[in-house]
Amino acid sequence: MNPPYYEQLAEWTEFVPESEIRRLLLTNVKYYFGGGKPGSLPIETFKKILYQIADELDIDGIDTLNYGPTSGLASLKETLGKRIREKDGVNLPKGSDDILISTGSQQMLYGILDVLLRPKDVIIMARPSYLGFVVPVTKLGGDVLTVPTDIDGLIPEHVEKAIEISQRELNRTPKAIYVVSDSDNPKGTTLPEKRRKKLFELITQHEILLIEDSAYREIQFTEIPPPIKKYDLENKWVAYLRTSSKEAAVLRLGYSVLPEEIMVPMIKDKGYLDLCTSSLNQKILEIYYSKYIDQVLGDNLKIYEERRDMMQKTIDEHFPSNGQRTQPTGGFFFWFQMENEGFDSSKFLQDVAIPNDVCYVPGQAFYPIKGHSISKDDSELHGNRIKTNGMRLSFSFTTPQIIEDGMERLGKLLQDEA
Ligand SMILES: Cc1ncc(COP(=O)(O)O)c(C=O)c1O
Repeated sequence: MNPPYYEQLAEWTEFVPESEIRRLLLTNVKYYFGGGKPGSLPIETFKKILYQIADELDIDGIDTLNYGPTSGLASLKETLGKRIREKDGVNLPKGSDDILISTGSQQMLYGILDVLLRPKDVIIMARPSYLGFVVPVTKLGGDVLTVPTDIDGLIPEHVEKAIEISQRELNRTPKAIYVVSDSDNPKGTTLPEKRRKKLFELITQHEILLIEDSAYREIQFTEIPPPIKKYDLENKWVAYLRTSSKEAAVLRLGYSVLPEEIMVPMIKDKGYLDLCTSSLNQKILEIYYSKYIDQVLGDNLKIYEERRDMMQKTIDEHFPSNGQRTQPTGGFFFWFQMENEGFDSSKFLQDVAIPNDVCYVPGQAFYPIKGHSISKDDSELHGNRIKTNGMRLSFSFTTPQIIEDGMERLGKLLQDEA
């Protein structure tokens, strides 16, 4: 007989699915375009940093190996604050006190929802959106409201309509809008400057928080517009989330600029979530950001750009010509959508792609499990609608040769479904 607690776990354990990406990480295939892992890391640089840290342990080991402040090490926040100010033009009215260090930006995405949400609060986001944000909204009792996207990402006119429809039909002004403005996950799109300005206008006009997740800000092959956060001079309307995972190493460290009203309860929350982010990892990254990032990031970008170019070329050569791909100028992903709306990319993955040694992430993973959506013509509120004909293809982790061979193989298989 099972003990009673087996049957009485928290309710969310019954309706929240396992992350599709975590599940697919276990897939062992030759042509792996699944997870968004960095595939080029400055290993020699980190070796140098680790030797330096080891040498210094005699002097400051008691701090380096200890608990630190919940909001993060002051010296790291200074270093990151300077970079965000100088490179991205973001104003920090309170200096580095406006920055919070988290254990990955994933912790911040979850934490910000933990701080914000009351039952049925509406959060607007793109359709599709990063599943690491979509799923926690539902888990924590919020109501996801998705809007259609195009080749440039989130469309402010749809967002405006969604705000109106939410007020009229759900009796709520949305609490927040979520956007990955630079090289989106999953679509790889980058918001043009005009859309960024319009979104900022909308949030100030309707008094809604914008959660700008800029995970791929430093992984760019061309110049892109400044973050929306730049317009938020008073640090009042935009929570700006960054991470070291893509631009440094996956040491589980995120850094965010948060409005004070969010910062204070977020630090309280983090005090219960993990007490603090690893002090050792913060020290390592402080050295990386203050001494090395500009020297080594360029080499990594060249590698990613070459992979992006190869994926673009081979999709165009081999994939069904009536399908549509996005045009990433940075980040880790392409999105490909089959014209045939009946195509089920999840079933195709299991039945055809994996048996042929190819893996990608089916588009379904980036749609909410519950919630609402606005129709394409903006006229109606629907229940949540999932499109099955898209797929996310990651170019970050595989060599150009694997991309060339894998895309040819996948393209041929997809031709039969076009
Ligand atoms: C858009 C986006 N936000 C946040 C994250 C989480 O990153 P981390 O927790 O490693 O900082 C990811 C990771 O893939 C991502 O793609």
